[in-house]
Amino acid sequence: MCAQNIYDDAGFYAGYAKLPRSEEGLRAVYEWPAFQRLLPASLEGARVLDLGCGFGAYAREMRARGAASVLAVDLSERMLEEARARSSDDAITYVRASLEEFEPERRAYDLVLSTLTLHYLPDVAPLFRRVAAALVPGGRFAFSVEHPIYTAAGLGWQTAPDGTIQHWPVDRYRDEGERRTRWFVEGVVKYHRTIETYVNALIAAGLSIARLEEPETTEEVLAEHPAWREDRRRPAFLLIAADAPRG
Ligand SMILES: C[S@@+](CC[C@H](N)C(=O)[O-])C[C@H]1O[C@@H](n2cnc3c(N)ncnc32)[C@H](O)[C@@H]1O
Repeated sequence: MCAQNIYDDAGFYAGYAKLPRSEEGLRAVYEWPAFQRLLPASLEGARVLDLGCGFGAYAREMRARGAASVLAVDLSERMLEEARARSSDDAITYVRASLEEFEPERRAYDLVLSTLTLHYLPDVAPLFRRVAAALVPGGRFAFSVEHPIYTAAGLGWQTAPDGTIQHWPVDRYRDEGERRTRWFVEGVVKYHRTIETYVNALIAAGLSIARLEEPETTEEVLAEHPAWREDRRRPAFLLIAADAPRG
């Protein structure tokens, strides 16, 4: 199946590029504090693979934390062009590829990360097997996706006539597969799957679950970002870390 390259759509890109997380980087990312708990204790000298790197904020952060190199992969030429413009670091290599086909080097990475990208793939099991093979013994895979509670119905917030949020419907939870939604433009294709599918695909790939996060935030952070309050009503993100066997 051919991946939808919605980030190269001019209308979609224009909307996405204006999100706070696009303009301000990781400090405007709700799930960033939780994602940091998935990272290895030290990144000193680490070889990192970033799957679906977007504007490269995570790749740059891994370098700032001591990573020796980052191979950053994305399908979108527009996203890669902006990522390259935001950094002149020779230790970050940007590559255009679809994750359905990308074959990483075997036993080459201490950390493979992927943030908010895997829900664009119809099937994660083949990629998880390639990720497991790409990790060195004891290496870590850390990823975030839209939470299955968030993706299940694909309907968004249900509101009262005055616009007040009422609830977030969870429906068709076990009906895995394509969801077409409106996000900046009509027809954005994402794939819903259960938590069970994510976790069992990791286990089937030979990885051990190290941590799972459904990010929470604090009153202090909410004071700075009041719009994030609605993310306490239903989880928007699911974060998982899994480790390769030590050898
Ligand atoms: C929501 S953005 C996340 C970007 C970045 N990881 C971040 O968290 O800031 C999703 C990214 O995944 C990329 N992407 C979507 N489907 C892909 C695929 N099949 N193969 C490779 N990249 C893909 C998009 O082009 C986009 O840059």
